[in-house]
Amino acid sequence: MKIFLDTANVKEIREAHELGLLDGVTTNPSLVSKEGHDFHEVLRELCSFVNGPVNAEVLSVDGNGMVSEGRTLSKIHKNIVVKIPLIKEGLKAVKILRGEGIRVNVTLCFSPTQALLAAKAGASYISPFIGRLDDVSEVGMDIVRDIKTIYSNYGFKTEILVASIRHPLHVLEAAKIGADIATMPFEVFNKLFNHPLTDIGLARFLSDWEKLKKK
Ligand code: E4P
Repeated sequence: MKIFLDTANVKEIREAHELGLLDGVTTNPSLVSKEGHDFHEVLRELCSFVNGPVNAEVLSVDGNGMVSEGRTLSKIHKNIVVKIPLIKEGLKAVKILRGEGIRVNVTLCFSPTQALLAAKAGASYISPFIGRLDDVSEVGMDIVRDIKTIYSNYGFKTEILVASIRHPLHVLEAAKIGADIATMPFEVFNKLFNHPLTDIGLARFLSDWEKLKKK
């Protein structure tokens, strides 16, 4: 499973990249706004070192506007993937952009049937938002399972990008289902490294080694 960071914080993205574990990045208008830097400049900087997709979302809500923003974003770098919201106008835009060879990630997906339509429109990626479904007492991961079944039933090539991840258990479930990608905040990524028994085990090895040196 590919690991993406869900942030517009360049420092965090550089750190994950330097570990050699980063496959891509997702941003959204809220994440970009939080960092307070120029959107296109951030995208240019990310594309200069991230070896994989850098997702950038459009702000228009009409088809023509989305297509025009998508074209502009895609010209920044070949690694840019345009994020389009899962609304009717959005899927119209997906079809057009796809026809021009521009990769699209259809975002804000909350149901398997929405995901079916996105794949039919030609999305390269579908982003089910599982944490936000959990927030309203629906089991977010169930839709990932359903999307996986639907896509394999019909041979859709659209990659399942599990989004709105809140904790390591979400990552584990996504991997067990066989999702293509999990995008997560830096904080969740860091948690994946930890296990208390690893720390205890390492401390014990080192202290036993010290004992040998004293003999
Ligand atoms: C994905 O591309 C989105 O940016 C993201 O995963 C949304 O997560 P949130 O629900 O934690 O805001």
